[in-house]
Amino acid sequence: MSEALREKIEKARYFIEQRKKLEPEIGIILGTGLGKLVEDIEDQLVIPYKDIPYFATSTAPGHLGNLILGRIKGEKVVAMQGRFHFYEGYSLEEVTFPVRVMKALGIKVLIESNAAGGINPNFRAGDLMIITDHINLTGNNPLIGPNDDKIGPRFPDMSEPYDKKLIELAEKIALEERIKVHRGVYVGVTGPNFETRAEYRFLKIIGADAVGMSTVPEVIVAKHSSLRVLGISCITDECIPDRLEPVDFRKVIRVAEKAEPQMTKLVQRVIAEIKII
Ligand code: HPA
Repeated sequence: MSEALREKIEKARYFIEQRKKLEPEIGIILGTGLGKLVEDIEDQLVIPYKDIPYFATSTAPGHLGNLILGRIKGEKVVAMQGRFHFYEGYSLEEVTFPVRVMKALGIKVLIESNAAGGINPNFRAGDLMIITDHINLTGNNPLIGPNDDKIGPRFPDMSEPYDKKLIELAEKIALEERIKVHRGVYVGVTGPNFETRAEYRFLKIIGADAVGMSTVPEVIVAKHSSLRVLGISCITDECIPDRLEPVDFRKVIRVAEKAEPQMTKLVQRVIAEIKII
């Protein structure tokens, strides 16, 4: 990682702070079909990614490309309405650049949401899964290259990528709100194809509960930047090899949109109560 990266982060941060001086505490990445949480952001400023220096643009279906600054339940937040994926052809440095910029803006906590295929046979389409750990199966890493020690360590610790206290808080809220949640391991792949039956079998054997094409590179960079992370997956399809149906991204988006009110409720309350843990 080069000094040039620090300069790019600085230029993007400056550009955003010129438009709104907020000092957000919490960053949120809204994935497939989950972008509506932004309707709950008060006093918001919307900045299209294409206006922000060095930001890529979202090309994935169901992903709008806006950075939104404002407040949810009084807490200062910065939200990404849509994210970048490796399969879009961006480098992992580009994919994770917004996480670095949100850190530079002041966030301490990153909340990740995504759509994922359910590997665990107990999961049903529409269920939510709180991510407890991940497996990086992208064959790549956003930290490859020279390390800038001013940003983070050469060899970041990964013993607790997802913050235990945030997981407990999310589970407590889910129980109170009667929202069904699982816990599980998310495996990150590159996509863009969905997996074969043999691959789903393999993913189950190696310990995955859900599979998706995002999140893992962002969380690696978040940990490199000393951020606390909470990740929630919406299970959009059931990846059971012996009764596998063809997966269609339109169905993935439809299921994610249907589960969206529950995801939104959960994330809203986590934000409201984050201060007390
Ligand atoms: N595989 C990979 N990514 C996904 C899936 C899947 O089955 N569903 C939603 N995102």
